[in-house]
Amino acid sequence: MGSEAKTRWIEEEISLLKEQGLFTHIRTIESPMDGWVTIGGRRVLNFCANNYLGLANHPRLREAAKNAIDAYGVGPGAVRTIAGTMTLHVELERRLAAFKGVEAAITFQSGFNANLATIPALVGKGDIIFSDELNHASIIDGCRLSRASIVRYAHNNPDDLRQVIEETEVEGRALIVSDGVFSMDGDIAPLPGLYEVAKDYGYLLMVDDAHGEGVLGKGGRGIVDHFGLHGKVDIEVGTMSKAFGVMGGMVAGKQVIIDWLRQRGRPFLFSSAMTVPDAAACLAAVDLLEESTDQVTRLWANADTFKKQMKAMGFDTGGTQTPIVPVMLGEATLAQKFSRQLFEEGVFAMAIGYPTVPEGKARIRVMNTAAHTEDDLSIGLAAFEKVGKELGVIA
Ligand SMILES: Cc1ncc(COP(=O)(O)O)c(C=O)c1O
Repeated sequence: MGSEAKTRWIEEEISLLKEQGLFTHIRTIESPMDGWVTIGGRRVLNFCANNYLGLANHPRLREAAKNAIDAYGVGPGAVRTIAGTMTLHVELERRLAAFKGVEAAITFQSGFNANLATIPALVGKGDIIFSDELNHASIIDGCRLSRASIVRYAHNNPDDLRQVIEETEVEGRALIVSDGVFSMDGDIAPLPGLYEVAKDYGYLLMVDDAHGEGVLGKGGRGIVDHFGLHGKVDIEVGTMSKAFGVMGGMVAGKQVIIDWLRQRGRPFLFSSAMTVPDAAACLAAVDLLEESTDQVTRLWANADTFKKQMKAMGFDTGGTQTPIVPVMLGEATLAQKFSRQLFEEGVFAMAIGYPTVPEGKARIRVMNTAAHTEDDLSIGLAAFEKVGKELGVIA
């Protein structure tokens, strides 16, 4: 087979994606990630980043990363179990555990890797995972890698969870897993209800707090703190790639679980650690979060203002309870057109379609952050009003 024939199917798939409005065009950012960014030489309002607290370009994090490079260089050298671990990583894990109010924490290269490490370390062939039907791709992949049987329960529905558990024969171990905040809808998992079920059956309970870290709970301590469930959730997976403004994953929980992940978490055993500047910047982020709750308060104030005004204009913002605002549009082609027109108005807000969200549920996903001012929000809202009217989405 000639080389063109071998890859023709990919060309056909890509053409199809383009026809369906599902081909993702990635914008190139020519400035630091912040409330405003430069794209194509133009300053645009940035409504896309998960940079909830505006820390991605914070002077304290930049400084910490630079100082750490001077002291430790840039790379960790190898896998930690092979080349040893740096004091920076150990210190970060100690501080994360204290921040989250748990016995211990372990870091990974990303939140995605944290899920891939954790789930297969806890359950395997012959075991069962009860998984929310809308869980994040990294949870789904972690479940598949584990080779345990996967039983999905209805989204955010502890009663359905109980029902499917009753209908399932569990012989080995069992794990209940849910996103904390669902990243495309902004709704919050009913963790107290999930905990009651996990307790009644004696199953492990794991929550992926990627979008709750730095957002929910006192000073951004996450979903467990938000619901006052300290000591009741076995595994909290998190990421430092969102509110912390850097890159990296973490798992927080009981010492015994963290010890086990150091022995059996495959991305820990077979992939190098976070880089030196990443680890140092994350430490600076923990410092900031422990020093003040101002950024978290501002994030929520901005989100409240934005959501209220969008609803008043007649937009459907789904069931969000957090600063993630899905502006529901339905067809992927409409969502892409909406995003392009917003960009012409100076607002960068991405269209999200299948497979990130179900077919027919395309949307613009707006991320409110503490890096935005009231004026920024007014500019963004005016652009949504203009484009919404032009495209007949609002009256
Ligand atoms: C729920 C959830 N888990 C995990 C991740 C992955 O995090 P990271 O970007 O650190 O790999 C994401 C990011 O999109 C997420 O939304």
